[in-house]
Amino acid sequence: MFSGKRAVYGELADQLGALIAGEPDLVANTANMAALLYHALPELNWAGFYIVREGELVLGPFQGKPACVRIAWGKGVCGTAAARGAAILVPDVDAFPGHIACDAASRSELAVPLVAGCRVVAILDLDSPRLGRFDDADRAGCERLVAVLLAQHPDWP
Ligand code: SME
Repeated sequence: MFSGKRAVYGELADQLGALIAGEPDLVANTANMAALLYHALPELNWAGFYIVREGELVLGPFQGKPACVRIAWGKGVCGTAAARGAAILVPDVDAFPGHIACDAASRSELAVPLVAGCRVVAILDLDSPRLGRFDDADRAGCERLVAVLLAQHPDWP
């Protein structure tokens, strides 16, 4: 299973690289990345970004139902991932203290920080209606995808 997911994420990394090649616009590239993940990965009900602005997380490009616009630093799964500067895998959102329920259908979640220099600049967030949907292969795969995006934006504002 691990190698299966690794192959899927390898393919997605290639597709993402091709989608954003030569395009400097951050909104365009994050929007396309959200759409790519939402449609390519099974069992997702939300895929998108929260962008760090003045110490809090503000909703960025995404696919799925409308979501909470602002998340305080250190709050919820996304704010906790931002504060830690490390990915968080949540197999059961009801067991995560302070989880912020944007869509009642969400059962599991993966939040991956985008780190530019020494700064967390955004969070990639994936939600699933299935308990335990994400594992370490998804975390590693998403970190690889995030690296592709960041390579295109070395001067992330
Ligand atoms: N569940 C997240 C909030 C964002 S939505 O899932 C899109 C959290 O606890 O940070």
